[in-house]
Amino acid sequence: MSENTVEQQEYTTVKLDVDDGIGWVTLNRPEKRNAMSPTLNREMIALLDEIELRDDIGVVVLTGAGESFSAGMDLKEYFREVEGESPVVQARVRRMATDWMWRKLMHYAKPTIAMVNGWCFGGAFTPLVACDLAFAADEAQFGLSEINWGIIPAGNVTRAVAQVMTDRDALYYIMTGEPFDGQEASRMRLVNRSVPRAELRGHVEQVARNLLTKNPTVLRNAKSAFKYVESMDWGTAEAVLGSMAAATAASDPEKGRRKGMSQFLDEKSYKPGFGGYKRD
Ligand code: COA
Repeated sequence: MSENTVEQQEYTTVKLDVDDGIGWVTLNRPEKRNAMSPTLNREMIALLDEIELRDDIGVVVLTGAGESFSAGMDLKEYFREVEGESPVVQARVRRMATDWMWRKLMHYAKPTIAMVNGWCFGGAFTPLVACDLAFAADEAQFGLSEINWGIIPAGNVTRAVAQVMTDRDALYYIMTGEPFDGQEASRMRLVNRSVPRAELRGHVEQVARNLLTKNPTVLRNAKSAFKYVESMDWGTAEAVLGSMAAATAASDPEKGRRKGMSQFLDEKSYKPGFGGYKRD
């Protein structure tokens, strides 16, 4: 097997459905409200690796089976059953969780959308924030519930909420553990938007289809650039963005920049202000 191929796996806790360019990834333990166990974390690493290399998938949507997005880390399998293990095993279990929950998702080579269909607690905030975009059902219930059972939000949950929520909102929910709904999540910009549950899948599909029309090389570098530069000072950011822009133009197989300019300036066939250039 070459380094650029990933073995197809059998999954028991996650599910992949491919529909015309969209990879719907479902956390699939509905009987446990899709709580994230070490097995699920191992399978998510493998599944995300597999999807990244598949030509038939251009956008990845992460969601949950049944009435839950995810009830967070599995209190039994991720916490209690690992307590007696050696420090090395414990560190490995933690590392495998965060490997996919933010490391892989943060600079994933394809656009990612979190679709929060229902319960979203604790550890589930990390992949939620690490996905590029997020949409929720109005009826979904979120909660930084760690305080309610005596731990602090680790697994990079606190870092994730600090990324997208204001100090006031984040601290309020970290400290009270109160649940909140999709509309409140949208108000706080934890998700891009919330819509009635019956409209959620259709709305997410519409956004995903829009992303599928874009130049994938430019899209990948544009989101990665944003995630890299947000922690940089202006001077460093300018230099990094300049290099990334040049690298994007040089590596883009469809030469989008040249096409876009030519269709606007010479052919006068479209206006970049209103939409994309015509791709072959
Ligand atoms: N870890 C392990 N098991 C979990 C779980 C979790 N995070 N969340 C739910 N489950 C299990 C329950 O133990 C139960 O298992 P059982 O059928 O073997 O008894 C099953 O999933 C169904 O859960 P239940 O509580 O009956 O479902 P519900 O629909 O009434 O409530 C929640 C759903 C999500 C509100 C509730 O399960 C809950 O509060 N879960 C914990 C959320 C949390 O604090 N997560 C943060 C972890 S960092």
